[in-house]
Amino acid sequence: MRIVAINGSPKGKDGNTNVIVEHLFKGAQEAGAETRNIFLAEKEINHCRGCHICWTRGPGQCVISDDMPEVLAMMGSADVILFASPVYFGNISGMLKTFMDRMTMIGSPHTAAGTKGEGHAAAGTRENVPEAGPQEATPPAAPTAQAAPKLMMVSSCGFSDRGEFEVTSLWINKVAQKMNMELIGEIYATNGKAFHTSPEALDSKISDYLQHVEQGGKEIAAAMNLSAATKKALEQLI
Ligand SMILES: Cc1cc2nc3c(=O)[nH]c(=O)nc-3n(C[C@H](O)[C@H](O)[C@H](O)COP(=O)(O)O)c2cc1C
Repeated sequence: MRIVAINGSPKGKDGNTNVIVEHLFKGAQEAGAETRNIFLAEKEINHCRGCHICWTRGPGQCVISDDMPEVLAMMGSADVILFASPVYFGNISGMLKTFMDRMTMIGSPHTAAGTKGEGHAAAGTRENVPEAGPQEATPPAAPTAQAAPKLMMVSSCGFSDRGEFEVTSLWINKVAQKMNMELIGEIYATNGKAFHTSPEALDSKISDYLQHVEQGGKEIAAAMNLSAATKKALEQLI
C-alpha cells in the first residue's frame, strides 16, 4: 500500500507538522507501506481562478500551467492521501487551502457522489485522476481500476489547546464528504515546537507521543484505520 502526504506548511520538511508525518511514515514503512512526502512549499501552486473551464473541458484540464498536474500524478496511485498542515489562525494554512481549491480540476459538477448541489470535486474513484492537459509539463498517472484512496489529516498547532483543531477537523470531514472519500484518521498535535528538538533532547512525553504516531502508521499500513487505543493516545495534550 502507498501513502502520499501533501504538506501545506510553508516550512516544508523543516516544519513541526513534518515531524508527525515522518513518524507516521516510519511506522507505516516498518509495516511494509511505501510513502511519499510532497511539500507544497517546494511547488508552484497558483490560486484557482474559479473559471470552471475544467468542468467543461473535462477532469484535469485546468487553464493554469503550474506544478498541480505533477502533484496530482504523484497522488494518482495512493491508497491513502494524507493532508498535513500547521494551524494558522485556527484553520489550515493558505498553502493547503490553495491546493485543495485547485483539486476542483479533477472533478466536475456531475461527478460528486453523496453530496448536494454543485461545486464538488470527487476523488472517490480512480477514474477521476486527470489525464494530461494541454499545458501540462508532467502528465498525471493514467487512471486505474484500483479502489478509491482513503483520506487522513495531520496538523500541528502552537498552543496547548485541542480546540485549535476544531475548524481543521470540520474542514477535513467536509472535504471527505465532497470528495466522496473515507476519512480514516485525524492526528492533531498541540505545542508544535516541542516536537522540534533533537531526538536526544526530546521530553519523554513527546517521545511517547511520537511512538504512538509510529504505531498509528503501522495500523494504517496494516488495516487502513487507527485502533481505539491509538486514537485515544494521540488525543493527549502536549
Ligand atoms: C501565521 C501563523 C498563524 C498561526 N496561528 C495559530 C493558531 O491560530 N493557533 C495555534 O495554536 N498556533 C498557531 N500558529 C502556530 C503554528 O500552528 C505552529 O507553530 C505549528 O507547529 C507550525 O507548524 P509547521 O512548523 O509545520 O509550519 C500560527 C503560526 C503562524 C506562522
